[in-house]
Amino acid sequence: MREVRTRAPAKVNLHLSVGPVREDGYHPLVTVFQAVDLYDTVVARPRTDGEFTLEIETAPTISVSPEAIPRDGTNLVMRAARLVAEHAGIDDGIDLHLIKRIPVAGGMAGGSADAAAALVACAEAWDVGATRSTLDGLAAQLGADVPFALHGATALGLGRGDKLSPVMTHGEFHWVFATQSAGLSTPAVYGQFDRDVASGERLAVEPSPNADVMAALMAGDAHALGEALTNDLQDSALTLAPHLRATMDAAREADAVGVIISGSGPTVAALARSRQHALAIAAHITASDTADAVLTASGPAPGAVVMGS
Ligand code: C5P
Repeated sequence: MREVRTRAPAKVNLHLSVGPVREDGYHPLVTVFQAVDLYDTVVARPRTDGEFTLEIETAPTISVSPEAIPRDGTNLVMRAARLVAEHAGIDDGIDLHLIKRIPVAGGMAGGSADAAAALVACAEAWDVGATRSTLDGLAAQLGADVPFALHGATALGLGRGDKLSPVMTHGEFHWVFATQSAGLSTPAVYGQFDRDVASGERLAVEPSPNADVMAALMAGDAHALGEALTNDLQDSALTLAPHLRATMDAAREADAVGVIISGSGPTVAALARSRQHALAIAAHITASDTADAVLTASGPAPGAVVMGS
C-alpha cells in the first residue's frame, strides 16, 4: 500500500460581511477568501487492521504548544479520514501524519486546511476514485471553510462561506501575518458579534458583496485592495483581545497598505506593496514585541494537492 503526501493552504478573508445568526447557529456570509502560500501537510499510509492513528508535528514558527491541538477522534484530520472511509465503504485503517505550519486557532483556517489535506490524502491512498464534487460535499460536512481549503486561489464564499465561486485576480499580493500563542475560538468571536447585535451596539443586516475588493483584485492593485479590506468580525475579535490594536498599529507604522484581523482572529494580516516591503513590515512588528510570531506569505496560492506518493 502506498504513502501519499498532500498539502493545503491557509487563508485570509479580504472581505467578510456577516449577517444575523441563523436558526442553525451559523451566520450568513458574503466573503472573499484568498489562499496564501503557507501550508499544512498530511502524510497518509493505509493499514490493513482497520486502526486510525494520528501523529502531529509542529513547525518552529507555530507559537502554540502541540498539546493545544486535539489528537483524538475530534481532530479534523481524523474526522476527514473516517468520513472518506464511511463514504467509500473502506474497512482498512490509516496512519496519518500532520505537519502544522499554519497558526492554530488563528483565523487562518488551519484546521480546515488539515481537513482538506486529509480528505485528498485518504481518497488517494485508498484509491477511492472520488470526484471533485464528492470531495466538495464531504468538505462542507467537516466545516464551513473546508471547501475553500480544497479550492484555493481567490474565491467568493456565500451561505456559511462554503458556496464558492472563483474570483478573477491579477498578479501576486504580499502579506505579513502576526500571530499570537493564545488563539481565539471562532464560536466565541461570533458569540461576541451576536451580543453586540443584541445590545444594539452594532447592526446586523443581510451580508453584501464589496465591489472595491473585486476591482482591486482584478487590477492587481495592492493599495486599492489595502483600502478596501473589511471584516465584520474585527470589532468582536478586538473586544475579546484588545492587545491586538498594538499589533495593528505596529503594521501601520511600517506603512502597510492595509491592516486587518484575519477571519475571527487573533492573527493580524498586513498587506504590503512588495515582497521586500513585507519583510520590512515583519521586522518592524517583531521589534515592536506585539506578536508571538511573524510570518510572510503571498497569495493567491493553490488549494489542496497531492505532493507525491
Ligand atoms: O464550520 P466550522 O466548524 O468551521 O465553524 C466553526 C464555528 O464558527 C461554528 O460552530 C459557528 O459557531 C461559527 N460560524 C458561524 N457562521 C459561519 C461560519 C462559522 O457562526 N458562517
